[in-house]
Amino acid sequence: MGDARPEPQTAPPIPGIRDIAPGTRRVGIGWATMTWLITGGAGYIGAHVARAMAGAGERVVALDDLSAGIASRLPADVPLVRGSSRDGDLLKRVLTEHAVTGVVHLAARKQVAESVAQPTRYYQENVGGLATLLEAVAEAGVQRFVFSSSAAVYGNPDVDLITEDTPCAPVNPYGETKLTGEWLVRAAGRAHGIATVCLRYFNVAGAAAPELADTGVFNIVPMVFDRLTRDEAPRIFGDDYPTPDGTCVRDYIHVADLAEAHLAAARRLGGRTGDLTVNIGRGEGVSVRELVTLIGEITGDTRPALVEARRPGDAPRAVASAVLAARELGWSARRGVREMVESAWRGWLLHRGG
Ligand SMILES: NC(=O)c1ccc[n+]([C@@H]2O[C@H](COP(=O)([O-])OP(=O)(O)OC[C@H]3O[C@@H](n4cnc5c(N)ncnc54)[C@H](O)[C@@H]3O)[C@@H](O)[C@H]2O)c1
Repeated sequence: MGDARPEPQTAPPIPGIRDIAPGTRRVGIGWATMTWLITGGAGYIGAHVARAMAGAGERVVALDDLSAGIASRLPADVPLVRGSSRDGDLLKRVLTEHAVTGVVHLAARKQVAESVAQPTRYYQENVGGLATLLEAVAEAGVQRFVFSSSAAVYGNPDVDLITEDTPCAPVNPYGETKLTGEWLVRAAGRAHGIATVCLRYFNVAGAAAPELADTGVFNIVPMVFDRLTRDEAPRIFGDDYPTPDGTCVRDYIHVADLAEAHLAAARRLGGRTGDLTVNIGRGEGVSVRELVTLIGEITGDTRPALVEARRPGDAPRAVASAVLAARELGWSARRGVREMVESAWRGWLLHRGG
């Protein structure tokens, strides 16, 4: 990729505030300087958020332990502190030395099957790590906090559109850590006067640039690419669901739209108090069969899918109501599923050398 950025730092030393491009913007009735710490900033979504926020003129510093992240995903003008969001001493120093005024917390483990096999690790990392971060945030007097939550908090509700009032009933430890995380974020917000936003992402796909693409094979789009690349037919788990074509229906959101939602959330927090929890989706359902057909069209590999047995725990339909995000954040998704698959495929070809 020809990336010339320096190796990420291990703490100490921490990059000084002079390392950050100056960025001052009007907040409320006066001029204030905002600096956002993005945990998990070298990850798939975090790097998109860093790029969107820095591109919009916000000061940004990323923190990532690079357990799953890639340093070269970050824009050259975004400093990266290599370290863990579970390291309270490091966090306190980063928050102080960079004069951080808001945090976007994405660092987490995110694999459902792994969370079923290793629940204590998931609670320690996703909930314990969040508690450590919130303590440091409260102590440093940071007053804005955006939390990466997930549609996994809902479990499998039997509704046409999932609103934020749909009861939460997660069906795996990953979803439980996200729901517990939301409770913790709101409680800490109330206790310490931190304005908070929890963003419940639906199915994230695509890439704003090929080098930013998701390199994991945990979601349906890369899973189908993986099968095709290995000269195998895509698999569809169940075609006898009560949906129009019998396959499961999901709400896919382009990661570039998701990144813009974070920017909207961060800006909403300027000068506000209280908490907000919103779905981040398109409000439109796409069936697995429709998605697999589209992937065939875009990759040029139109071999028929194999239909296999249903997987336990798959809901027939999970589609967001996107009304609250539009009203509260002034944000709506702009990119469609074709753009998601095309951009994800370009990223796959870059990373997998297809
Ligand atoms: N990808 C999705 O479809 C999806 C859907 C809903 C919610 N989310 C949430 O979004 C967030 C980001 O997901 P992603 O897809 O970008 O995953 P990712 O694995 O690409 O990014 C996570 C980043 O956090 C870093 N990290 C993990 N633990 C850390 C720690 N203790 N300290 C510092 N850095 C740490 C990893 O190195 C990685 O760069 C996660 O909280 C995830 O649960 C993702």
